Amino acid sequence: MVENFIQIKPENIEDNIFKLIGTDWMLVCAGAPNNFNMMTASWGCAGVLWRKPVVVSFIRPQRHTFAYLENNGWFTLNFFDDEMRDVLNLCGTVSGRDMNKMEIEDITPFETDRGNVAFAEAKLILECRKLYYDDIKPEFFQVFEIEMIYPAKDYHRLYIGEIAGVLKKRKYDSFGAF
Ligand SMILES: Cc1cc2nc3c(=O)[nH]c(=O)nc-3n(C[C@H](O)[C@H](O)[C@H](O)COP(=O)(O)O)c2cc1C
Repeated sequence: MVENFIQIKPENIEDNIFKLIGTDWMLVCAGAPNNFNMMTASWGCAGVLWRKPVVVSFIRPQRHTFAYLENNGWFTLNFFDDEMRDVLNLCGTVSGRDMNKMEIEDITPFETDRGNVAFAEAKLILECRKLYYDDIKPEFFQVFEIEMIYPAKDYHRLYIGEIAGVLKKRKYDSFGAF
């Protein structure tokens, strides 16, 4: 699986990050090959902090994926073409508490060289090393419209991860070369 990807630097990611996260969505995945969970996310950020390329993922505490992020030092962000939208909808509406997401047929997990779980169908994978977490605190909201997003007061925990690896899908031509 890993042979279908090339390693690139974060600064060579060509896709628009607003489209990747906000429109394409992503699967946030954490855990070990024999015990992982993933969920769809469309909120997140990418940039530079502490002299490192970083992402920020926002996970509500009731998500099954939350425990996996808590218990692991790494997580992956996986981005797909539109043909995977059904899987993203499934992973965004059903919890790993109610189904074993490791057994979803239309998606193929694999272990990266760093020991992280990612997906063969992804066009882009970010391998992220957890650097920091914090919880959204309502007392710091500056505008009321944000509080409206949390009627259940289930404020996201944010995880800042160093982008330690970027895997980009190889492009093959019709002869199987790349
Ligand atoms: C398009 C989309 C985007 C989502 N973005 C987020 C997000 O950024 N953070 C979050 O906590 N949940 C988000 N969710 C909700 C979770 O994906 C959903 O609750 C999922 O079933 C959680 O799975 P889990 O319980 O197995 O972790 C999103 C759902 C969809 C459909």
